[in-house]
Amino acid sequence: MSKKNFRDVISTSRIVVCCGSGGVGKTTTAAALAMQAAEIGRRVVLITIDPAKRLADALGLSDLSNEPSRVQHECSGELWAMMLDARATFDEVIRQQSRNKQQEQAILTNPFYSNIASRLSGSQEYMAAEKLYELFNDDRFDLVIVDTPPTREALDFLEAPQKLMNFLDHRVYRWLVMPARGGLRVLNFAAQPILKTIGRVIGADVLADAINFFQAFEGIEEGFRQRALAVQTLLKSQDSKYVVVASAHHDTVQEAIFFTDELARVGTPVTGLIINRLQPKFGKGSASASITAARKADKEGDTELAALHRNMAHLRHIMQAEEATLKPLLDAVRSALVVKLDQRAQDIHDLHAIADLGRDLVAATATR
Ligand SMILES: Nc1ncnc2c1ncn2[C@@H]1O[C@H](COP(=O)(O)OP(=O)(O)OP(=O)(O)O)[C@@H](O)[C@H]1O
Ligand SMILES: [Mg+2]
Repeated sequence: MSKKNFRDVISTSRIVVCCGSGGVGKTTTAAALAMQAAEIGRRVVLITIDPAKRLADALGLSDLSNEPSRVQHECSGELWAMMLDARATFDEVIRQQSRNKQQEQAILTNPFYSNIASRLSGSQEYMAAEKLYELFNDDRFDLVIVDTPPTREALDFLEAPQKLMNFLDHRVYRWLVMPARGGLRVLNFAAQPILKTIGRVIGADVLADAINFFQAFEGIEEGFRQRALAVQTLLKSQDSKYVVVASAHHDTVQEAIFFTDELARVGTPVTGLIINRLQPKFGKGSASASITAARKADKEGDTELAALHRNMAHLRHIMQAEEATLKPLLDAVRSALVVKLDQRAQDIHDLHAIADLGRDLVAATATR
């Protein structure tokens, strides 16, 4: 069922993910939605990525931690916030899934693990999905709001669990873990001709670390697979809602269309579109009406009034140009809730300003 306004979205959803290109206001609107949800009594946790320093301070996020902390804010619900630390999340998952301390240590201290945990593409995205799943299942919270990084890859986390499952089923992976199953020793395995060749290229130590890693991993992949399946099911369920944030610039509109198409492609169509940082509206007339009024004032000798009308015409031109820029995006999100927010006179860095923007955001009824 489509939502009437963002109050509906934050009162009924369990997960809200905000995505969009750089600087459009993902972090600000994610925080604004979280605050409003807490004000209507929900226990909300905001996962944020790289907030501006002053906003991080306002949210009490100056200490990097992979755990949510309570934000000092008076409301009938609760507001919590955290910054995602992908590496720490990966370590937590390994700890949970390992059969014993020995296996846990073998993996966590393996140099190859360090490499994939912090650098391999896809692992960051998978860990974002993991954390989301963990917080979704945490009894302390009934709504998780997620801010995402400003890249097209931000949506990769939707497919990361499937990629992990594919990897665990992959021939090469199965072959790498095989010797542990067959009771063969790593050294013997590494002596196989193909691996000797690989070892010559990437270095024997690196290869030995990789083989050790996959063998240490043996036995916990089933846990990983189950978990990846559960994470994927959650991300694609009705509990998860996706919000695209955009501004009225050609590039951000193109990016927002990309996000909208991508969400539809993976089966999680966009619930809401927030168009942020718009030129505020001035009355109902058009730019040309203001020009006519300016000419009339000129004729009547009122130069100040004429200048005012000309300023108004300029601002209305910008507004009309913004509307034209936004048209393809509005066409692309036909069934989504669309809400527009004006550019404020100042940057939005403290809880007071965020709450203010949030009130406008949740109260606004859908526009086109
Ligand atoms: N409606 C608004 N009026 C005025 N300033 C705004 C508005 N929305 C956001 N801002 C300001 O714009 C800047 C960018 O906002 P924000 O950090 O939320 O964007 P973002 O999409 O998360 O950026 P990034 O892609 O870098 O993560 C911030 O300084 C914020 O205070
Ligand atoms: Mg941001």
